[in-house]
Amino acid sequence: MTEIIANTKKLFIKTYGCQMNVYDSDRMADALAPHGYEPTGDIMAADLVLLNTCHIREKASEKVFSELGRMKELQDLRRAAGADLMIGVAGCVAQAEGEEIARRAPVVDMVFGPQSYHRLPEMLSEAASRRSLHPSQQRAVVDTDYPEEDKFEHLPAASKEVTIKRGLTAFLTVQEGCDKFCAFCVVPYTRGSEVSRPVSQVLTEARNLVAAGVKEITLLGQNVNAYHGLDAAGRTVGLGELAYLLADIAGLERVRYTTSHPRDMDDALIAAHRDLDILMPYLHLPVQSGSDTMLKAMNRRHTAAEYLRTIERIKTARPDMALSGDFIVGFPGETEQDFEDTLSIIRDVGYASAYSFKYSTRPGTPGANLGGQIAEEIKTERLHRLQDLVNAQTTAFHAACVGKTMPVLIERPGRMPGQVGGRSPYLQAVHLDGSPDLIGAIHQVEIVGTSTNSLVGRLKVAQAA
Ligand code: SAH
Ligand code: SF4
Ligand code: F3S
Repeated sequence: MTEIIANTKKLFIKTYGCQMNVYDSDRMADALAPHGYEPTGDIMAADLVLLNTCHIREKASEKVFSELGRMKELQDLRRAAGADLMIGVAGCVAQAEGEEIARRAPVVDMVFGPQSYHRLPEMLSEAASRRSLHPSQQRAVVDTDYPEEDKFEHLPAASKEVTIKRGLTAFLTVQEGCDKFCAFCVVPYTRGSEVSRPVSQVLTEARNLVAAGVKEITLLGQNVNAYHGLDAAGRTVGLGELAYLLADIAGLERVRYTTSHPRDMDDALIAAHRDLDILMPYLHLPVQSGSDTMLKAMNRRHTAAEYLRTIERIKTARPDMALSGDFIVGFPGETEQDFEDTLSIIRDVGYASAYSFKYSTRPGTPGANLGGQIAEEIKTERLHRLQDLVNAQTTAFHAACVGKTMPVLIERPGRMPGQVGGRSPYLQAVHLDGSPDLIGAIHQVEIVGTSTNSLVGRLKVAQAA
């Protein structure tokens, strides 16, 4: 039994990067709650600040060091007021840079990677005891090992309070790490090799979330559709099969999953999309480039035609499926023709939305050593052209929704009194006139218009029979 400590300290977590970091930040808060730490939204009142960092692109990484400069000022302020501040760096930059962070920023008390979160309470007490040493001997606690034990086994399950704070939708990490080694990407180095959580752990956490009021769960993984968890009989269960098991949980109304790799869209998962209404018809399926030369250089291990064929299979199973994607422009060696091929695949697919990035050289990845690095101005120019195309597609997708009736999960009061807001199956924000009583359930809504980045709806009142 963990000893419950009553005197409350304030914890502020700043989260960068992907949804998996968002999930992890909540787990860290859960792990510290029994040790007297209560989350706060006010960094000025914090006794402990954790930066949960992202290493995916250079800009994301560099944010940490500028933030740590501000942390030093904050610590000085806290000390002047007779209090103190401890600082921890977690996440993917911590994993990648370890000791280097402590060296560059002596203000840091702890540096620890994503595989060590369950050890956070011990690290914290070790860091606190090092505070009493002579300043010349003070050193940050650094933990970037990949432990043998399963961190998920040791992290507290999503607690009721945290779930209520999150509301009607929640993330649930089912898979972590990546074995694919795309030439541009740091994830296999920061998150380690692929690990899937056992089926029973996933189902228990899903049931707890639903019991606390969650209606929509997004399953997370760096390669979520490579999920291969073991069931009680020791059999491997893929994401498709897991979806059927989740569909049996009473009260769970929507399931999404992200991020998928095109190579792992297997028949079982596609069949689940055909059979299960609970699986939302909106899929994030990054292709990165439409050029086979680039796809090969990126080590994506599929061609543009194979990607298009996969989408065809998905749309045959689920005709109302919409897609989102990720694109990288300016990978080493990318010619104007390669880039045109990317625009061309975007036109072929017709995305509902997409994220696009200039290639950012990441130390230690194969892409960093390739010749033919692309000039910054060319990357910028290509990114703009790509984003113009994608923005036009997003606008067209929103416009095509007008006149349709769709289920909307009503989540919150709207911008104006008398309005409520929610999400469509395609993650579009929808605003409509309606009473706050509608919040917390899915209602049929007719889409009557669009406004910037959202849809305007009208509640469909069920006709009496
Ligand atoms: N596992 C996912 C992607 C995780 S990273 C997948 O396989 O698709 C999220 C996105 O960041 C990637 O899809 C890619 O578009 C982008 N990205 C990753 N590394 C990058 C880099 N070095 N430079 C620019 N963008 C990058
Ligand atoms: Fe990175 Fe590729 Fe793995 Fe996605 S599949 S996390 S892009 S290495
Ligand atoms: Fe960033 Fe790590 Fe996620 S590098 S995108 S926080 S897996």
